[in-house]
Amino acid sequence: MKKILIIGSNGFIGRNLIRSINLINKKIYLIDKINPSRNDLKFIRENKISFKKIDITKIKELKKIAKIDFDVVYHLASVVGVAKVLDPEKTINIIINGSKNVIDHLVKKKTLLVFFSTSEIYGNNINLPWKEEDPMLLGSYKSPRWNYAKSKSLVESIIYERSKKKKFKFLILRLFNIYGPYQSKFFITPNIILNCLKNKTCYLNYPTTQTRCFTYIDDLCDFLIKLPSKKKIISGVYNIGNNKKTKIKDYINLIIKLTKSKSKVKINKFKMMNKIYIQDVIHRQPDITKINKVYRWKPKTDILTGLIKTIDFFNKSSQQ
Ligand SMILES: NC(=O)c1ccc[n+]([C@@H]2O[C@H](COP(=O)([O-])OP(=O)(O)OC[C@H]3O[C@@H](n4cnc5c(N)ncnc54)[C@H](O)[C@@H]3O)[C@@H](O)[C@H]2O)c1
Repeated sequence: MKKILIIGSNGFIGRNLIRSINLINKKIYLIDKINPSRNDLKFIRENKISFKKIDITKIKELKKIAKIDFDVVYHLASVVGVAKVLDPEKTINIIINGSKNVIDHLVKKKTLLVFFSTSEIYGNNINLPWKEEDPMLLGSYKSPRWNYAKSKSLVESIIYERSKKKKFKFLILRLFNIYGPYQSKFFITPNIILNCLKNKTCYLNYPTTQTRCFTYIDDLCDFLIKLPSKKKIISGVYNIGNNKKTKIKDYINLIIKLTKSKSKVKINKFKMMNKIYIQDVIHRQPDITKINKVYRWKPKTDILTGLIKTIDFFNKSSQQ
């Protein structure tokens, strides 16, 4: 029986992953520093999944599960989102120290470590689409947003070096704007959907030419759930995301149309948060040749289908 650990299981990706993974012949362990919601707890109990409240920055807590030989560790725990990463000490501590603890105490020789990195790593590099070996072009040390990318990048290097000594397999996945059910309302997709459902104003950041490559959560989970039964793993860094760019302006207008909302779009000239100017990235686009070649993965869900499913989820959950 395969032993699977999901760290950061109560977040957006974790909650989708535990619902899509095939539970047969697997023992699933979940850890998070916060307790699951009542609905999740019901799902966890019904499926005989183990949950432990553990903060990965605390070695003493982590040692409670260190004796288990995990086959796959999905390491999702992180500070996520521009608003949250504005606390540099917290960002650095959770991402760097927490991940080092995970590698030191939970990853053994036979473990496959799946680390969730980010498209933020490429920063303001204007040569699109980005390949895994492309340079990072991060902004000033004065803007706290870059601590997230810097911390993730450092963990990528730690994993790369440690894997040579400890001989474990790893996948570093650089995610591009994942969206779908269970995402927190602080992210663009749920934020716009929830505003539209209430006919509230939607804010579009300046410049209005900004694009993103929106990736539906099921396309990511489709890749993740196949990993425990893969015969061959080729360790490395992989971009994972939709390679089609969408203008954020068009994305918002499509959500307004699909929700039949009366919401108006207002342009936000300067993106400020807690009186700090956020240096924003104008375009992001992955080159997904590598993951397609090695794992035959490519996104299947178009924006329209993904948004219809996501709107349906938030519509139902806002009525409960
Ligand atoms: N969602 C995206 O579009 C996206 C894009 C790029 C990268 N990622 C990466 O994917 C991963 C998961 O993203 P998500 O959207 O599910 O985030 P999320 O914020 O919804 O979930 C993160 C989870 O980690 C937990 N956590 C945080 N600190 C912890 C600690 N010290 N110990 C234990 N648990 C802790 C949180 O409680 C939360 O449940 C993150 O590593 C993130 O950097 C996500």
